[in-house]
Amino acid sequence: MKVSSGMAIPCMLKPSGNRLFWHSMHGSSVKNSLSSSSSRLCSFSCDAFTELEHKNWQRGVGAYATGFGPLTSQAVPTLLEKVGFPARKGEARTDGVNCSLVDVACGPGQVLSAAISKAKSAPLEEGACSYTALDFSSNFLQLAETNLQSEHPGTPITFVEGDAQDMTATLGDSEQFTSVTSNFGILHLSDPDSFLKEGFRVLKPGGRLAFSAWSAPPNTEAFDLILGAVKDAGNPNVLLPEGPPFFRFSDPVEIQRSLEEAGFVDVDVTVVESMKWTNVSTSEELYEIMLEGTARTRELLRGQTKEETNAVREELKRRFEERVLVVGGKDADDNNGAATTTKRRPLRMPAVVSSGRKPLRSEAKQRDSKYFELK
Ligand SMILES: C[S@@+](CC[C@H](N)C(=O)[O-])C[C@H]1O[C@@H](n2cnc3c(N)ncnc32)[C@H](O)[C@@H]1O
Repeated sequence: MKVSSGMAIPCMLKPSGNRLFWHSMHGSSVKNSLSSSSSRLCSFSCDAFTELEHKNWQRGVGAYATGFGPLTSQAVPTLLEKVGFPARKGEARTDGVNCSLVDVACGPGQVLSAAISKAKSAPLEEGACSYTALDFSSNFLQLAETNLQSEHPGTPITFVEGDAQDMTATLGDSEQFTSVTSNFGILHLSDPDSFLKEGFRVLKPGGRLAFSAWSAPPNTEAFDLILGAVKDAGNPNVLLPEGPPFFRFSDPVEIQRSLEEAGFVDVDVTVVESMKWTNVSTSEELYEIMLEGTARTRELLRGQTKEETNAVREELKRRFEERVLVVGGKDADDNNGAATTTKRRPLRMPAVVSSGRKPLRSEAKQRDSKYFELK
């Protein structure tokens, strides 16, 4: 059955215990007063698409973190650069707070980990920055907390279990942050425009938002291989809850339009061409990560019959070997140049990092007065 993404279904998303909002510091989780209002997640937009994403992210934490984690981390330096994090000394942007970052759809926590390292090496006073991690998966938040506590013991971080598309429900007030990031989160939202509007709302004037998404196939070779194999050897028409196009945010025109519609200026789109999937070396590994560590692609693979699954795996193997195994050649990654009979090269997986700035109040006023003059 095809279910429209706008169609409301009974909300199955439940806050896990009352861990809705908590601070973590010095190895212990301290629940904030918001944790008592566990009914807040009932305002979660529980369309069928979000429901499916939530179910799959809750179960896919381990496979995603080890499979995709080393790859998606490669977009983080560009993401932080595009939000200007941390603001340089003497560049306190707004309202006295030098840097306050919320990472939305934080997954295992790589963005915050890199941000904290960057802030530690910047000429900033200790405690000048504040950090918030938001995700709708309690299992991912738990992993992020474990990772961040071991990498940055003692750094206070606020963890928020909530929906990227409705941050009013969990983060509350407007104009709290100087930076909003989301690394490969936007492509998993049923209503990404709501996230952009919410991101704009929680930013202080002058603050920046940046998000990453995959470049479209054939540029992203792993998606080209798996989707190509399903299309030619299996069933590409598995019925899934309807969601936005997976590669919507690889198109610069669409990105510019979407960011401007949410109110952003100074839109920038940068392709991170250097990203490579170095920890996937066989078609079987690629298939397993796509099956166990994704949401939509997992459902596409699970929707195949047994015969189709076998045919897809065979086709994937054939394409993978044809593309990344160079028989008798030199491995592109082999720096010592030793020749072997079969070489492999990592899959190319470029990301598109997009960003925009929330106008200062003075700019917004200027724009408004021009608008009235025109009218
Ligand atoms: C592809 S992973 C990205 C994780 C991490 N940012 C990274 O760079 O690897 C997608 C993440 O988005 C989260 N997510 C998906 N939909 C969400 C929503 N509506 N609200 C909050 N988080 C969401 C998932 O739980 C998962 O952690």
